[in-house]
Amino acid sequence: MHATRSTLSNLVWLGACQRATIGLIMSPQISSRSLHSLLGPWNEGGNLPAYQALAERIRLLILDGRIPSESRLPAERELAVHLELSRSTITSAYARLREQGYLNSVQGSGSVATIPATRPIPTLAGLRDVLSPSILTFTEATLPAAPMVADAFQQVACSFAEHLETRGYEPTGLLALREAIADRYVERGVATHPDQIMVTSGALQAISLLGQALLARGDRVVVETPTYPHAMDALVAAGGRLVPVPVASGSGWDEDNLLNAFGRTGAPLAYLMPDFQNPTAESMSNELRQRIVDVAARHGALVISDETTAELDIDRPGSFAPMAAFGDVVSVGSASKVMWGGLRVGWVRASRSVIRRLVAVRARSDLGTPPFEQLVVAQLLRAMPELLESRREPLRQGRDFLRQCLEEALPEWRSPELHGGLTSWINLGRPISSELVLAARASGVVFAAGPRFGIDGAFERFLRLPTSYSPAETVRAVSALRTAWERVAARDPRAERDLEVELV
Ligand SMILES: Cc1ncc(COP(=O)(O)O)c(C=O)c1O
Repeated sequence: MHATRSTLSNLVWLGACQRATIGLIMSPQISSRSLHSLLGPWNEGGNLPAYQALAERIRLLILDGRIPSESRLPAERELAVHLELSRSTITSAYARLREQGYLNSVQGSGSVATIPATRPIPTLAGLRDVLSPSILTFTEATLPAAPMVADAFQQVACSFAEHLETRGYEPTGLLALREAIADRYVERGVATHPDQIMVTSGALQAISLLGQALLARGDRVVVETPTYPHAMDALVAAGGRLVPVPVASGSGWDEDNLLNAFGRTGAPLAYLMPDFQNPTAESMSNELRQRIVDVAARHGALVISDETTAELDIDRPGSFAPMAAFGDVVSVGSASKVMWGGLRVGWVRASRSVIRRLVAVRARSDLGTPPFEQLVVAQLLRAMPELLESRREPLRQGRDFLRQCLEEALPEWRSPELHGGLTSWINLGRPISSELVLAARASGVVFAAGPRFGIDGAFERFLRLPTSYSPAETVRAVSALRTAWERVAARDPRAERDLEVELV
């Protein structure tokens, strides 16, 4: 009982901390044109008065992070003209949103989107104190080691003695690994010299070092929303102010918003995941990649392309080139998802000048990645086609099995179509993700609620589920969700209303 109470207060506190990052976020003015296209067919076939239907639609867009928190909505008069509605309809819709706590009227800034602070936002960190071995943490989007990893360890062990004669410090990484990484980029169509590579202890360290090397305090960083939470934390810790641009399963990136973000905010940096974006699993078209690289170059900004899951294709149609094929970007890669997370090997591919800045920043806290694991990764990179082939079947089975379990146990939820990656961004249809996750703890399973991937409480209608667990674990997780859903959804008074207005 005591443990439960302290966990809950922990969660409330953590939720408050997450909300406190709001001062570090820069959000845009939403134009009438953008809002019009986000609204979609908001008033078709419903029996609500127009102002209520409009307010409800905007509320869901705010909850789902498609109108990022802190965004300024269009002026009432301008929106009325654009939507061909009376001014009083817009005034009433905005008033309703204000009453419900989703709009603030800020002197001089008009109407600003916000999410009312009503529920705690659970985070995995807040739950660690009560985790025990019988608890299943269904939060890790990663596979156990590929079968070839054990062989590579043995082979490296056989010839490792010669490395013991070196001093063992290599801040940019062993040449053998930098060559293997560079060759892999060449195989993927991007000319790369080993001097453009720095080996790190995982992709997360790479992102953190890039933030420290490239950001001055208060600089803006364009990030997707939802996005990989640890990257957000690392960029904020490096002094960045986040500029969120929406991405959604099924419809992909809000392209206008993304392309305009550089000019609008003067952001010198963007952090994006063009392939199997975590958590939505969306991939960018080659055309969008080119446009982003061009726009960033025009504004003197650098794009960090996180390609940690880029090669985890199951059946992705079309051919997708790495971001670096389109111009000067900083690419981040990792052995974690393709080979094994326990290797703790990642890398950066960048210009030589960026690599020099990274080396300087790294020396404040870390002097290099262990050579043994680097040699294991170098060996495995030489066999990438075979390795990727060996990952495809487990990925496919995990994806199909999760989908099948959800269809049977929770048919009202919507799972997106997945062509690769390790995550499924499930639409629950109701804004109760955090409550659901708390309730599932009673069955001993920990999940990552939607708001962990957004900013300031958005994404309460979503839950991120990894596709990488064994069938037995997946069955246990889905049955915990079913039990929690029966309890939470049954007592949620907002349920019926939310289902009336579905997002497209
Ligand atoms: C998109 C993304 N980037 C980076 C990382 C961190 O990778 P690493 O284990 O190499 O630090 C992850 C891990 O989940 C991830 O999903």
